[in-house]
Amino acid sequence: MTVTGRVRPSVGAMPSYRPGKDAAQAEAEHGISGAIKLASNETPWPPVESVVEAVREAAGSINRYADHRATGLRDRLADWFDVSADMVSVGAGSAGLLQQLCLSFVDPGDEVVFPWRSFEVYPVYTQLMAGRGVTVPLDGWSIDLDAVAAAVRPTTKIVFLATPNNPTGTALTTAALADFMRRVSPDVVVAVDEAYREFNDPSLGDPVTDLVPEFPNVIVLRTFSKAHGLAGLRLGYGVAQAPLIEQVDKTMAPFAVNALAQAAGIAAIEAEPEIRTRVDLLLAERVRLVADLRADGHKLPDPHGNFVWLPFGERTGEIHLGLERRGVVTRPFADEGIRVTIGSPDENDRFRSTLAEVIAAL
Ligand SMILES: Cc1ncc(COP(=O)(O)O)c(C=O)c1O
Repeated sequence: MTVTGRVRPSVGAMPSYRPGKDAAQAEAEHGISGAIKLASNETPWPPVESVVEAVREAAGSINRYADHRATGLRDRLADWFDVSADMVSVGAGSAGLLQQLCLSFVDPGDEVVFPWRSFEVYPVYTQLMAGRGVTVPLDGWSIDLDAVAAAVRPTTKIVFLATPNNPTGTALTTAALADFMRRVSPDVVVAVDEAYREFNDPSLGDPVTDLVPEFPNVIVLRTFSKAHGLAGLRLGYGVAQAPLIEQVDKTMAPFAVNALAQAAGIAAIEAEPEIRTRVDLLLAERVRLVADLRADGHKLPDPHGNFVWLPFGERTGEIHLGLERRGVVTRPFADEGIRVTIGSPDENDRFRSTLAEVIAAL
């Protein structure tokens, strides 16, 4: 095939984003059946019935474009957080909003600072803009905010901070984040990426109430993909002061949040008590799995999301492959560790026993 256009140098050198393998891919690759996927931090159950019903109903009108700005959904989110509607943006997943932030604020040569290891799209989107990613090593498994603040320079446009951090699961308090914000120029946009908010310990604080009113350069990103079980629909949102939201909205692809996602988001907010019950079930499973893994002799940081981080170091590759050949699909980070989503009780039991089998066979 001949490519007639010239690929931009920053894109030509860029790796494609590689999502976690799904169960069917692993089955085909290893000639097995009955695989389970614990690789992408999804919820193990289908969405709640009222959300499915809202999607069914909205599907009847998808011959029409949706409302580009998703006004009804933004209004509902604004009510939920007790902020004005101009303080809320929505995107095609929170990953869509992360990309919009780079499109809005990063010119070629600008710096984007983020702890590492963290969410894989931060370096990808930075490179997409021909920006320069500045990675700040974790302190053990945790984000080192002093080191992040020290890495911020006049050429820095954005700082990405995932809390809980993907994949290590550690979390930051809003008190520490406020202290960080006071040390960073107000010209730098700080994205507090809370994709796993609903699984986090609420006593660490809420950036929407603790940071947004004071800092015009902070944006809090959240998603319906994880706790709300809508990963396949692509719906995320951001909360910030109105001028920052206005800049982010300028780079939104037309109709990026589709009609089904808009209807599902509103229905999911209405279904909050049911969703909370599911989150509580997963949190109980998290406690059980962590205790079991520690009893089996594994070292792991306290998780704050719907996943655990097992720092297997150089054994990562063989343990990941051993699990996958036995039908348990997890997310490997070469020579660092594996990230394992908290699944249903049966899935968690299967992961634990398969891991013991794999390690015994090493
Ligand atoms: C830290 C973090 N941020 C953002 C996302 C993106 O989620 P979504 O685009 O589905 O909202 C993820 C997904 O895994 C994540 O781990």
